Amino acid sequence: MAKISFSVGGGKGGTGKSVVAANLAITMAQGGKRVILLDADLGAANLHTMFGIDRPRVLLEHFFRREVPTLSDALTDTAISNLKLICGGMPLPGSANPHHATKIKLIRHLRDLDADVLIADIGAGTSYNVLDLFNFADVRVVVFTSQLTSVHNGYGFLKAALHRHLQRIIPVPARQYLASAGAHAGDESLADMLTRLASYDVAAAETARTSLANYQACLVGNMLGSAREGYVINAVSQMVRDHLHLEAPVIGLIHHGEKITRSVNERTPFMLRSGIEANAELFRKMAATLVINAERISRARQEALVNQAVMDKYKEYERRFPRFKLCVPVQFLAEGEVYSGATKNIAKGGVGVFFDTMIAPDTPVGVLRIGPMGKSGTLKIRVEVRHRLDDKKLVGFSFTEISEEQSHFIEAMVARASATAALNVPGIRSSLPPNILQN
Ligand SMILES: Nc1ncnc2c1ncn2[C@@H]1O[C@H](COP(=O)(O)OP(=O)(O)OP(=O)(O)O)[C@@H](O)[C@H]1O
Ligand SMILES: [Mg+2]
Repeated sequence: MAKISFSVGGGKGGTGKSVVAANLAITMAQGGKRVILLDADLGAANLHTMFGIDRPRVLLEHFFRREVPTLSDALTDTAISNLKLICGGMPLPGSANPHHATKIKLIRHLRDLDADVLIADIGAGTSYNVLDLFNFADVRVVVFTSQLTSVHNGYGFLKAALHRHLQRIIPVPARQYLASAGAHAGDESLADMLTRLASYDVAAAETARTSLANYQACLVGNMLGSAREGYVINAVSQMVRDHLHLEAPVIGLIHHGEKITRSVNERTPFMLRSGIEANAELFRKMAATLVINAERISRARQEALVNQAVMDKYKEYERRFPRFKLCVPVQFLAEGEVYSGATKNIAKGGVGVFFDTMIAPDTPVGVLRIGPMGKSGTLKIRVEVRHRLDDKKLVGFSFTEISEEQSHFIEAMVARASATAALNVPGIRSSLPPNILQN
């Protein structure tokens, strides 16, 4: 699986998106990453010519037309052993506009590619195809020059990409509401749109806000003639912060360089023969910044997935063994330690417990005392840890070696908890059955 992904876009044609994407890909590959560079300029693919490849044997179109089964079968080797290309082809009629389903399939397959890094070179324009391919990546890079038209286009592109991103995560009714309420996506500020959304669906607005807060984008200035032109790119970053409420830092300012122009004409990428020079150093710094950031994001995503999996398992367990709310004191005895807490809920097969201090990781089994401590009416039973949610200090135990007497006791507790739940009485305390057990 591609562990981290970047997209390089910018709306306007000719700002250097492909130059930046290609040289970042080479720099990362030279740094030891296994990189796949995708020519996602569906209308005018030409990345392969920058690598001196005349006629790639296999193109993205072959994948679209199902002439190759997977994207991995559409890889083309380059002069750098750990950098592969997915080439686009000649502009065939319609090739810039694959059907929605084809695009979704492409994005899904991109995620499954076996590489450390995937970089997508995005074409010009703000069509949905362009925006969706730009948005799919973990980190999005927008390339500007300091020209006013480029600044306008780049800013407009990022705004359109953000709107499109929101459109895709907001539930359909809320989306329809936003569309029907008049304001055109292009005219309304994001803040206004979110306020309007909150008035219709608070939860959707919250999801949108979180999603925007996690939207990773950064800016690159290219073909700069002087240090002063760099300020223009920094001003764009400020504008993005003020008006789109997005932190999009400037991660690189590449100068206009004769060697870069020549590298394109001579079809050997700049970073393959740059030697020591300022622009090469800038590409290296930029690549390092991008990789560090994306790896951090990737780790966080992995952790979130693991947490989600644990949560799903726990929910499934709760669904299979109906549990009822019960709040009584608990002590857990394991490995010579005593942990205190309170039950969250109880089922015939086990009990959920919130602990004051989370139990140690290496305590798979122990003894649980349920009920008012030191008094009669406490159930003492052997348990096994089934699930643990460390951040919530919550542990799901299942009862083991239940004696008949214990079983009656548990059933009575469950019956009482379930009856109270049916009556919808909040917060049951010490609702223990009268026949008291001590063992
Ligand atoms: N830093 C640079 N210094 C000098 N020339 C550059 C630089 N970056 C790009 N160029 C020149 O600009 C041309 C356009 O660059 P590139 O093809 O990367 O733009 P693009 O944004 O990908 O364009 P398109 O939207 O058409 O795909 C290149 O052929 C190259 O000659
Ligand atoms: Mg290009």
